[in-house]
Amino acid sequence: MRKRSLRLLEEYGDVVPGGVHSNFRSPVYYERAKGSRVWDVDGNEYIDCVVSNGACILGHGDPDISEAVGEVLEYGLSVGLEGELGLKVARLVKEMVPSAERVRFANTGTEAMMKAVMIAREHTGRGKIVKAEGAYHGWYDDFLVSVHPDPKLAGPPNSPLPVRASGGLRRDVEDWVVPVPFNDPEALDRALSLHGDDVAAVIVEPVVFNSGCIPPKDGYLEAVREVTHKHDVVLIFDEVITGFRLAPGGAQELYGVVPDLTVLAKAIANGYPLAAVVGRRDLMEVTHPAHGRVLYAGTYNAHHVALAAASVCLEKLRDGGVQRRLRELTERLVEGFGRLADKLGVKARLQGIGGQFQVYFTDEEVVDYRSAAFSDEWAYRRFQGRVLREGVLMKPSYLFHHGVTYSHTEEDIDRILEAMEKGLEAVRDED
Ligand SMILES: Cc1ncc(COP(=O)(O)O)c(C=O)c1O
Repeated sequence: MRKRSLRLLEEYGDVVPGGVHSNFRSPVYYERAKGSRVWDVDGNEYIDCVVSNGACILGHGDPDISEAVGEVLEYGLSVGLEGELGLKVARLVKEMVPSAERVRFANTGTEAMMKAVMIAREHTGRGKIVKAEGAYHGWYDDFLVSVHPDPKLAGPPNSPLPVRASGGLRRDVEDWVVPVPFNDPEALDRALSLHGDDVAAVIVEPVVFNSGCIPPKDGYLEAVREVTHKHDVVLIFDEVITGFRLAPGGAQELYGVVPDLTVLAKAIANGYPLAAVVGRRDLMEVTHPAHGRVLYAGTYNAHHVALAAASVCLEKLRDGGVQRRLRELTERLVEGFGRLADKLGVKARLQGIGGQFQVYFTDEEVVDYRSAAFSDEWAYRRFQGRVLREGVLMKPSYLFHHGVTYSHTEEDIDRILEAMEKGLEAVRDED
């Protein structure tokens, strides 16, 4: 029953285009969320697998975070000055993240990515950006290219053409972004040999979650590091989702590859709006208010509500226990799904890491954007619709990512698998 949700969709539509404030949201309107659960405005209960697009790592409404946030409300917000919390949380980030010699906060992943690119451009005196096809780094011109391009328009897989991912971008945006296939270091080397003298930075999301869940092949990130050193370009890790999640120090800790700059967000504050640009001291110093030339500003930067949340969240993420638990839950899901797909004879796979996952309808391992894009979208939609009816919240996009939190239990995973079994049966029966 979704009567009230449907009415809200109509009412919203009179005020808000499409009834959502972010285009990546589906029109299910929620009333509240707690732990691993979300309740919609019709009173339906879901096991949440959207988990705030990867931001919610501990579970909804963590009581310790709520208490810390409540405390800062008492002493005044947005004063236009720094307080002690800004130092405390920056120190935690520095201690946890290998590349973080220096730290500066922002509010969203997009903003922090914009800042990182400005730093790389100032440092190198060059302008172009290299990014993986299928990766999303936020909604700004510099990276809103080749996100989910139509493969028919995107050129050959090993040297893709830039394809704009939105209207309203600068006219010459294709001249500034060079897309490469993920998991292909030779293609990156070729692209840098061709454009290297103009390239400021290579941006890499170490696991491409914005095409579902595509982990790096063994040795890929090491090769990216080597190639970026060889061509003397700045390596930026977009750890907006992987940060603090794959390990306390993020993907760079797990894979042992240290970039020059890193962008962090999402799990840093369990869903409160905080992001950070961190990195090598000499690079970060270009934002120094007295002797740097890159303007680093923002009215809400290091907002105390988000910092209070982060100070508690990072303490909980620091010793690696949460990440170990997420790994166990992910393994249970991956194994359980594999057994179900085999039993039902459906060509489907669940790829997962660090509590995040995606289901692809294909019998091939998904290693880059093209292999994700060529999985069966319609089978996924049928599956997702059925899973939702079984009370598990997933998104209709076959290239989106899902997840579980520290609050999800083994029983939750088993209930998710029961719902997925129904979804797989619906796909099998359609064939
Ligand atoms: C990998 C990655 N980078 C950057 C962003 C942009 O972050 P925000 O939505 O906070 O602007 C996102 C958002 O989903 C993301 O997943």
